Amino acid sequence: MRNDVKEILLSEEQLAEIVHKIGAQISEDYRGKNLLLVSVLKGSVVFMADLMRAIDIPCRVDFMSVSSYGSGVKTSGVVKIVKDLDIPLAGYDVLVVEDILDSGMTLSYILELLRSRGPRSIRLCALLDKPERRKVPVQADYVGATVPDEFLIGYGLDYDEKYRNLPFVGILKPEVYGG
Ligand code: IMP
Ligand code: MG
Repeated sequence: MRNDVKEILLSEEQLAEIVHKIGAQISEDYRGKNLLLVSVLKGSVVFMADLMRAIDIPCRVDFMSVSSYGSGVKTSGVVKIVKDLDIPLAGYDVLVVEDILDSGMTLSYILELLRSRGPRSIRLCALLDKPERRKVPVQADYVGATVPDEFLIGYGLDYDEKYRNLPFVGILKPEVYGG
C-alpha cells in the first residue's frame, strides 16, 4: 500500500497538530452555542473522529453520505444523497466537517440543502483545501491545510475506496490511476 505513495504531504504528527489547533478554535468560537458536527462520509470519518475529541465543549454529531466521485479521480458534478442526517437542524449551529474542498460542487450542494432546513447557523470545516481546483465559489470557515492539485490519499481519503486507513496524507503515484 505504501509503495503507491509518491510523497507524504502531512505526517501523523502534522495532522495531530492541525486537528488540535482547529479543535481549540472551534471550542472557543462555539462556547454557549448549540453545536452539531455534521460529517460527510466516508472521507471525513478519520478527521471527524480526531476533531470531535479535540473539541472540549458539548456537541452532537451526525453523519450523512453523498456520492459524487464514483470510483474515479474526477468529480462528476452529480451529487446523490446516499444517507441523510437523523437530526432535524432547527436550532442548531451546524458545522459541516469535510475531508477536502476540491471543485466545491459537492459542498455547495450540501450547504445549500442543509441551509434550507433552517439551522441557526451553518459553517464549513475542511481539513484540506485545493483552491486551484475550485469550480463553484465555496469557502471553508476552518481549513487545516492548503494543498496542491495532486490526487491525495490517506487519513480518510481514498482512491477507488482504498488507502483510507493510511495514517498520513500522501500523494498517490500517478501511474496507479493511469495519470
Ligand atoms: P468536490 O465536490 O470536487 O469538492 O469533491 C469533494 C470530494 O471529492 C471530497 O469529499 C473527496 O471525497 C473527493 N476528493 C477530492 N479530491 C480528492 C483527492 O485528492 N483524493 C481523494 N478524494 C478526493
Ligand atoms: Mg472520496
